[in-house]
Amino acid sequence: MFSKYKKTPETAAARKPAAVVDLAPPPAAHAAKTVVRKAAQPAAAAPIDKDVKRKQRMGEIKLELHRALLDNLNLAALEHASEADLRQEINAISAEILSEKSIVLNREDRMTLNSELFDEVTGLGPLETLLKDDTVNDILVNGPQQIFVERDGKLQLTDITFKDEKHLLRIIDKIVSAVGRRVDESNPYVDARLQDGSRFNAMVPPVAVDGSLVSIRKFKKDKLAIDDLVNFGAFTEEMAAYLQAAVATRLNIIVSGGTGSGKTTTLNALSSFIDNAERILTIEDTAELQLQQTHVGRMESRPANVEGKGEVSPRDCLKNALRMRPDRIIVGETRGEEVIDMLQAMNTGHDGSMTTIHANSARDGVSRLENMIAMAGIEMPLKAVRSQISSAVNLIVQASRLQDGSRRMTSITEITGMEGDVISMQEIFRYQRVGLTPDNKIIGHFTATGVRSHYAERFRMWGYDLPSSIYEPIAAQ
Ligand SMILES: Nc1ncnc2c1ncn2[C@@H]1O[C@H](COP(=O)(O)OP(=O)(O)OP(=O)(O)O)[C@@H](O)[C@H]1O
Ligand SMILES: [Mg+2]
Repeated sequence: MFSKYKKTPETAAARKPAAVVDLAPPPAAHAAKTVVRKAAQPAAAAPIDKDVKRKQRMGEIKLELHRALLDNLNLAALEHASEADLRQEINAISAEILSEKSIVLNREDRMTLNSELFDEVTGLGPLETLLKDDTVNDILVNGPQQIFVERDGKLQLTDITFKDEKHLLRIIDKIVSAVGRRVDESNPYVDARLQDGSRFNAMVPPVAVDGSLVSIRKFKKDKLAIDDLVNFGAFTEEMAAYLQAAVATRLNIIVSGGTGSGKTTTLNALSSFIDNAERILTIEDTAELQLQQTHVGRMESRPANVEGKGEVSPRDCLKNALRMRPDRIIVGETRGEEVIDMLQAMNTGHDGSMTTIHANSARDGVSRLENMIAMAGIEMPLKAVRSQISSAVNLIVQASRLQDGSRRMTSITEITGMEGDVISMQEIFRYQRVGLTPDNKIIGHFTATGVRSHYAERFRMWGYDLPSSIYEPIAAQ
């Protein structure tokens, strides 16, 4: 992978003296001076300026060392080396080069440098720190100089950068080639899954105008469970009890929501209510769900390769899944023609199936389903389409990311049948917004709408006798 970056002996030799001049503290005397100067300057004098300069200098040293490392390391052996060995090797080579170039670093800088070099050689460079940071949900790169992260539902600009577009492209290339994909001018965008399970998407120039665009949805080892979501205020205990009854009594559920609103998280949490004895098959573009049950078969669809071959669409997986004796089918996201098989599965004995769709409300979600059916080229009168949807889907759960970054289940709506040409629905729970605090936090509360569940009798028959009080609205405080 690195071979194309490997310098020939001549160029490496030719570069060395110049590099020493470039790097801040050339030969011994200067190096010593730098250390003295560092110590003598009071930290308060110009901390930001000093910090930037220090970062720049470290960046330059790192780059130089990285080049030297690539020249020195046996890259073929690298793949089989243990982490400890590799770290040791990197530390030794870097110490040697630093002393050769008479660069003196304090212990802390040296350790940071070595760990960054390790990340450069084996991992994903500047992205590595962010991938390790558990408070980060999403990483969004807009060209080499701008990396945003999402923490607590809010986007923040980081001070981490790539050296230049080439550096960024090299990291993208490393990620996608590891999963047998390619990204270049003729193939400018790609989806992949990182080794740790994170979802990765990249688009490179010239389609990405100002430098490569990368989005990473970090994989959470400990997925948010129902209790966590209740504690975070995503929904109430009453709503959780209702959802438990809905899942356990095998209602077909669609989780609807905008991008990053918590659809997959909700789907995953809901799945915890499924009985352990059931056979569950999951179908996803990128395997994100982590079901706790013992009997789970996971499928991951895949796009065509560079030659346009080998595609396995979600629909292919779904069709095949129907032959695999599932009790329930969970489709990570329904966005295309697989909608037909999904609805059919829901209608024909695989009740208790679940999926997510991109939509802003339950009504909107139904329209999305109608559109997907139309786009799949199925010529059916609208009324027939709606009747198919209304008999397949029982419940639409709306996930939303509100403007203050909080994620909430803003509505739980039941589909109750057809009235003429229209699908009839009733909202059971909703999030009632009442205002905004001065620091832009949303004030609101969850409430039942006062409508008793259409499925209350079914719940009771299955042993989920919910008290009628959970359907009583809560007055605004
Ligand atoms: N209620 C919540 N409170 C805090 N964080 C949450 C909550 N729900 C989801 N998250 C976090 O928000 C991020 C996005 O969630 P998730 O992947 O479920 O969204 P999504 O709607 O499926 O996104 P996409 O449209 O990209 O598939 C995740 O990192 C998840 O851990
Ligand atoms: Mg998702």
